[in-house]
Formats: sequence, structure tokens, C-alpha cells
Amino acid sequence: MKVAFLACAALLVSGASAAVHFKETFDDTWSSRWQKSSWKKADGSAGEFTLSAGKWFGDAEADKGIQTGPDSKFFATYAAMDSAVDTTGKDLVLQFSVKHEQDLDCGGGYIKLIPASSADKMESFGGDTPYSIMFGPDICGYATKKVHVILTYKGTNYLIKKDIQALTDQLTHVYTLVIKPDNTYQVLVDLKEVASGSLTDDWDMLPPKTIKDPKATKPEDWDENEKIADPEDIKPEGWDDIPATIADPDAKKPEDWDDEEDGTWEAPTLPNPEYKGEWKPKMIDNPAYKGIWVAPDIPNPDFTPDDSLYAFKDLKFVGFELWQVKAGSIFDNIFVGDSLEEAEAFANDTWAKSKDGEKAAFDKGGTVVNHDGQAVADVLVVGERIAAVGLDLKAPEGAYVVNASGKLVMPGG
Ligand SMILES: *[C@@H]1O[C@H](CO)[C@@H](O)[C@H](O)[C@H]1NC(C)=O
Ligand SMILES: *[C@@H]1O[C@H](CO)[C@@H](O)[C@H](O)[C@H]1NC(C)=O
Repeated sequence: MKVAFLACAALLVSGASAAVHFKETFDDTWSSRWQKSSWKKADGSAGEFTLSAGKWFGDAEADKGIQTGPDSKFFATYAAMDSAVDTTGKDLVLQFSVKHEQDLDCGGGYIKLIPASSADKMESFGGDTPYSIMFGPDICGYATKKVHVILTYKGTNYLIKKDIQALTDQLTHVYTLVIKPDNTYQVLVDLKEVASGSLTDDWDMLPPKTIKDPKATKPEDWDENEKIADPEDIKPEGWDDIPATIADPDAKKPEDWDDEEDGTWEAPTLPNPEYKGEWKPKMIDNPAYKGIWVAPDIPNPDFTPDDSLYAFKDLKFVGFELWQVKAGSIFDNIFVGDSLEEAEAFANDTWAKSKDGEKAAFDKGGTVVNHDGQAVADVLVVGERIAAVGLDLKAPEGAYVVNASGKLVMPGG
């Protein structure tokens, strides 16, 4: 009996293969899978997604994604997953790549997973359509350069409290979100972890675990005065004898002043230049200072842990819903599944194969900025390393050449 049971368990483990819920690499057939939303169409402020590999890429076909255009428009498109996904007991891995080829000044670059319950609203899918997860970069000016991770819990959207920096260069980057049944998460950029932690702690989906004890009161003898008057500083003698004002020494009694009629003449007063103001002792550090009193933390009676924070029961659609001032972002290689390893293998097979070629293409003919100042030169990049800098370099066979004249190329950047 025992042997049979063990054998059975082993079978279960080996049979538990990774599930891929959705994969999209975008090719000529993409529009048969992706629906255009009618959002913002009526007032003419809706833009379009078009298939493009952009101006620099590693592989002209494989690197095609969907690109936003024209400028200052709203963009919305979505695709349905084969069946609704319930992540109970499973990891959820959401991954995609985006290239802000246009040097995005202001606009969204994120993806959304949308529940089956929004199905009847998808025809006009847009900013107000209820979603489950929103993930990816959002850039606007100098102030906003963040990676959003917004989770919907009991109908409310919660933003991650950590600041995760978005990359703002013009190359393709892979963004990966993992949400796990132990209520932890990971965010990876280009397959390297940039944030991780607890769903309970890094979002406000649940009330805080601890609160300041409302019953605690400041002890009577708690001294919050940082400075006190120096007891050894004594008022100099005669300080108070100096009047604030004096009679104007230059004033003269008018000729026609009649003491009997006008009363006794008095000279007008002036501020006394000798006057030093009210005496104040010197302030010194208070030896009894204890800092500002704060109530101690106690467990929050309103906090109840929720072990299923991570679970999304009916994920059905994958969508982009964006507003961009400067359009031109290219989205590609979307993955939704339950295995980070599988997602990584997919990124290895797509983004990782093209990234060096893309960077070489981007850098070709750029302006090199280094410690010698600026010089116009060609830059050949192989992998993460600059292989050559010089004028009129020969591009290696197969390299894509971009005229990057006027663009800044930062070695090591
Ligand atoms: C992806 O590529 C990296 C670098 O070559 C490698 O270390 C890693 O094992 C690969 N991952 C998978 C899942 O194939
Ligand atoms: C590259 O672009 C610059 C500026 O647009 C232009 O002056 C230059 O002739 C171009 N170079 C080549 C090789 O096309």
C-alpha cells in the first residue's frame, strides 16, 4: 500500500508540467487574435497599433511587435486567452517586452490582465474597464519613471508601495511579474530581479498589521524640548537701563511755541541706537531631551491575514490601454503562464537573441560621449561590450545600420 502511494505521488510531481496560458510574438496574423477597442474612436482621439520591428532591431521578422501611433492618442487593443485562468495554488507569470524607440517623454508602457467578468465591456475596452493586474513602465517627464504593479483586490486597485524604476532608453526591455501562492512576488527587468517581497506588506490591500496604540499617552515627565535657556547665561548689568527711544537731539522748540497755550514742549522721540532689545538667555541643548514621543506599535485588531491575496480566479483577457504624448512604443513577446523558468526560456529565445543586434544597430553612427568630451564616431557594440569606436567603421556582416546622427550614445549606458 505504502509503495503504491509513493509511486502515485511521484507520478503527480513529474506530471505537473508548466502551463502556458498565453503567448504572443506578433506576426502578420496578429490582428486575427487581437481586437481593436472602440474606446476614444468617436471623438477621434484613438490611435492605432501597427505591426513593426521599428528602426533598430536584431531580426527584421522576429522582432516585429505592435507599435503605437500617431502622437497624443489613446491606444487600446486586447486578446482573449483560450480559457479563463484561475491561479489558485499556482504561480502567475506575466511577461512582455517594450521598446520606447521614440524616446518616450510621456506615456504608458504597461500591460493589463482583465477578468472574464469584464467580457461584456471589452468591445470598448479602455481606462475604465475593470482589470485584475496592471504591470509595466509608465514614464512622464522627470517625475514619473516607474514600473507599475497594480493589483485589484475586492474591486479596488492597489498600487505597489515600492518605487521600481523604469528604464527610459530606446532599446527593448523585458518586464516580468511573478505572483506566488505564498503571497510573495518578484519583478524582473531583463530577467534580473529588481524588486521582491510580500503582497501583504508592499500593497495596502489589507489594513496594516500594526497600529500606534491609541490608549498610550505621553508620560508626564517626557521632555520634548530640544533646547533650553542656558541657566548660566546672566543678563548683563545695566541692560534694562537703556531706553528704547530717546528725545531727538536735533529737534528745537519752534519759535512761536507758547508754553501757556500749547503746553510744555517736548522733543519728538527717535529709536535709540544704543538699545539692544529685550535680553534673552542663550539657548543650549537640553540634556533631558528625549525626542518627540510616539505611541508604541500594537497589533492592529482590524488586521486579518488573507492567504489568497495572490489568487486571481478568472483572468481572461490580455490588453494594452495606453495614452502616449509621443507615440512609437513597440510591444512584443507576451507570456502568461505559471512558470518563471518557462517565461525565461521564452525571453531567451526571443529578446535575448535580438538584443545585441538591436543595440549595435542603435549605436551605429551615434555621437560618442566620453571623458574626452563629444566626438562624432561610429560605435560597434557586441554584447554588453563596445568592440570598436571610430570613424567610418565597417559594420559586420548581418548588422543593421542606423544613422544615429544627433543621438547621444553613452558608453556603458
Ligand atoms: C536563459 O539564458 C541564460 C543565459 O544564457 C541561462 O543562464 C538560463 O539558464 C536560460 N534560461 C532558460 C530557462 O533557458
Ligand atoms: C545622418 O543623419 C544626419 C542628420 O540627419 C545627416 O546630416 C547625415 O548626412 C546622415 N548620414 C548618413 C550616412 O546618411
